[in-house]
Amino acid sequence: MFLGLDLGTSGVKALLVDDAQAVIAEGAAALTVERPHSGWSEQDPDSWIGACKAAIAAVRDRAPTEFAALKGIGVSGQMHGATLLDENDRPLRPAILWNDGRSEVECGVLEGRADFRGIGGNIVMAGFTAPKLEWVRQHEPDIFAKTRKVLLPKDYVGLWLTGRHMSEMSDAAGTLWLDVAKRDWSDSLLGATGLTRDHVPDLVEGSEQAGMLRAELAAEWGVSNVGVAGGAGDNAATACGLGITTPGDAFISVGTSGVLFTTTDHFASNTEGAVHSFCHAVPETWHQMGVILSAADSLNWLSQITGQSPQQLTGLVDDIPNGASPALFLPYLSGERTPHNAPNATASFLGLKREHGVREMAQAVLEGVAFALNDCRSAIETSGASLSSAWVAGGGSQSNTWLNIIAAATGLTLKVPDSGAQGAALGAARLAMASTGATDVFSAPSVSAVVEPDHALMQAYKERQVEFRAAYS
Ligand code: XUL
Repeated sequence: MFLGLDLGTSGVKALLVDDAQAVIAEGAAALTVERPHSGWSEQDPDSWIGACKAAIAAVRDRAPTEFAALKGIGVSGQMHGATLLDENDRPLRPAILWNDGRSEVECGVLEGRADFRGIGGNIVMAGFTAPKLEWVRQHEPDIFAKTRKVLLPKDYVGLWLTGRHMSEMSDAAGTLWLDVAKRDWSDSLLGATGLTRDHVPDLVEGSEQAGMLRAELAAEWGVSNVGVAGGAGDNAATACGLGITTPGDAFISVGTSGVLFTTTDHFASNTEGAVHSFCHAVPETWHQMGVILSAADSLNWLSQITGQSPQQLTGLVDDIPNGASPALFLPYLSGERTPHNAPNATASFLGLKREHGVREMAQAVLEGVAFALNDCRSAIETSGASLSSAWVAGGGSQSNTWLNIIAAATGLTLKVPDSGAQGAALGAARLAMASTGATDVFSAPSVSAVVEPDHALMQAYKERQVEFRAAYS
């Protein structure tokens, strides 16, 4: 038995699978995000542990006998969050999350100090970890001075599980302190942020063992000899769950954030268009992604202000819309990364008239996210990659309407996996299996549906996408 834990932004999922990867039990627990200032996004690291405990307890309640045969745990998680720990491994402040835009000024400062683009492979963007630490250094110097370790969110969960400070390549690359080609910390990039190797965890590959489950937890859960794998950032973990570990295949994730992900067999930075180039969670592989900050989060926002659930909102829109919404939505509620790299970009509705209502706005939101994902496709393809199909993942991919809109906007054939929304948790469980020596664990799921781009809708969207791009300035 293997446990995959996925620390998302809106909640934790726990997935128990057997040695043949059949799902035995699932558990979940919700998380909330604090937004103390406009553009800020924080979470209490201990709320992650509370949610992990609740999700694991649900799995244990549902399958106590199977849980007792646990052999390994893998953790995946929201990337980039800065978790600052003191000498007793206690958080010094709330974690600053991936969709927090406060550090725009610090991004420019860091780019001037070291070769972040060459060594780190990426533009310094406000979402990444390094500029968050520079912000703390400038604005909260007492906290910076007390900081002994900086961990990523899933690695704080790993610390709770194993008692060790460990990370792995896919998530470590998103700090911008990693030499992405060498798969090792860069002294020069750490130094530019006033840090040394002592401040960051030791590194393993995601598919290697990072430690053993602490004796105290093992006794409480009635298990023994349980290894904990390096795990992965949530996007690399989703790729592992979908079998995307060799070059050529891709997935689109419609979670709180939206992602277009492709695997590469070498490190290739593509800073034009703000594409992310990181390590994959398995050895000797890398990946590129376009990331948008408000995908399902845009629909959740509309849900909050209209009082209608996301399902009710998508239900207002035809399965395959008969043309584009008269309204246009720019989904930059939390700023944007790919392709604009603009933490202060704002969202807007355009083209609304007196006769329009929630239906037109809901369709515009689904389309705006799809157009933004198509911008990610264009950005990734500037480096020579050519995509024709993609698997889908994330809560938003449960909506057939949204999938039809995304297929028509991106021109990609979408493959819906039979493993549903389990991508990242399943990927984490698979990494746990690999860390115990199991081979051939990263197989592709079976396809439960294929969504081809609707020709008429594609034509209708062509013009709309030009307006979408022109509307951002
Ligand atoms: C990737 C990113 C997001 C988070 C959200 O760069 O910031 O996808 O990992 O989970």
